[in-house]
Amino acid sequence: MTRVEPLELFFDESRGPSLPLPTRLAKAYGTLRLTVPESRPWVVGNFASTLDGVVSLEIPGHSGGGEISGSNPNDRLLMGILRAAADAVIVGAGTLRAVPGHVWTAQHAYPSAAEEYRELRRRLGKPEYPLNVIVTSSGQLDLRLPVFSSGQIPVLVVTTGIGARRLVAAGSQPSIRVITAQSRGPLSAKSILNAVRALGDHHLLVVEGGPHLIGSFFEGGCLDELFLTLAPQIAGRDRLRNRPGLVAGRVFAPGHPLWGLLVGVRRGGSHLFLRFSFEATRSRSFRSPSSRKGDS
Ligand SMILES: NC(=O)c1ccc[n+]([C@@H]2O[C@H](COP(=O)([O-])OP(=O)(O)OC[C@H]3O[C@@H](n4cnc5c(N)ncnc54)[C@H](OP(=O)(O)O)[C@@H]3O)[C@@H](O)[C@H]2O)c1
Repeated sequence: MTRVEPLELFFDESRGPSLPLPTRLAKAYGTLRLTVPESRPWVVGNFASTLDGVVSLEIPGHSGGGEISGSNPNDRLLMGILRAAADAVIVGAGTLRAVPGHVWTAQHAYPSAAEEYRELRRRLGKPEYPLNVIVTSSGQLDLRLPVFSSGQIPVLVVTTGIGARRLVAAGSQPSIRVITAQSRGPLSAKSILNAVRALGDHHLLVVEGGPHLIGSFFEGGCLDELFLTLAPQIAGRDRLRNRPGLVAGRVFAPGHPLWGLLVGVRRGGSHLFLRFSFEATRSRSFRSPSSRKGDS
C-alpha cells in the first residue's frame, strides 16, 4: 500500500467493537469502531460533499465522487475500509449511470490497499467481495456493465414489477439476482433492506448514494450513521446547474427535521472526515410530501 498521511483525530465518540484493521489501515485511519447488532442490519451512509453542499457536478464525465473530494486518498482509503467491512454496498441506478465502469469493492475504491482490504475481510470471516446492490424503479440498466458482468462480484438488483420485467426482456442472466421489492416505485428503504436480507444474513450495509437513494433511507428512518467527507471546495450552482446536495427528492425540514449527532471528527490536510449518528431518527419514519408524488 502506498503511504497515506495519517488522519489527525480530533474527536471520537463512536461505540462498538473496533474493526480488526491491518496495521497500515490502522495507521492511516486510526481505530474504527462499528456497532453491528445481531438483531438487525446496521446501515451506514458514506458521502463526500463540497463546502457549499454539492455532491455531484452533474456534468457528463465529471459526475463522480472524485470530482467532489479531489480524489482525496484518505477519502478513497476510508471508502475502501467501509466496503471491506460491509456485507453489502447499496447504490441507486443514477450513481451507477454516473460511474458506469465502477464496481463497489474496496479494491476498486483504493487499489493500492487491495491486500490490506483482503486481509480485513479474511479477519472478519467475510467472502472476497461484498454484495453489490443496485436500486432501480425503472429497471433501465445496461447489463453489459462491469458490475453485472464481472462473474466474481455478487450482484442484486432491487426493483419494481415493471423493472423486473424490463430486466428479463433485456436478457438478465441468473448470475444477476433480481428481487421485486414492491409492485411500483419509489421503493421504501425497508423494502430494499428486506430484499438484501433475503439473500443472506447481512449485518453491515453501506449505502453510497446517491442523493435520491439516501433520501429514501432518511425518509424510512433506516440510516444509523453517516460518514461525510467535507472537501474544501466551492463548486457553485446556477439556474442551469442545480447541483444536488446530500439528499434529493425528499423534504424534511421544517416539518420533520432530522438532526444527527456528531460522533467523530478527523482531519486530513484541509479535508474533514465527519461521522454522524442518526440512530435516534430511526423510529421517525414517514412519507414526505415530495415522495408521495412518485419521485424516486
Ligand atoms: N459525492 C458523493 O459522495 C456521491 C455519492 C453517490 C452519488 N453521487 C452522485 O450523485 C449523482 C446521482 O444522483 P441521483 O440522486 O440520481 O443518484 P441515485 O439515488 O443513485 O439515483 C437515482 C435513481 O436510482 C434509482 N433509485 C434511487 N432511489 C430509489 C428508490 N427508493 N426506489 C427506486 N429506485 C430508486 C432510480 O432509478 P431509475 O431511474 O432506474 O428508476 C432513480 O432514478 C451522480 O452524479 C453521482 O456521482 C455522489
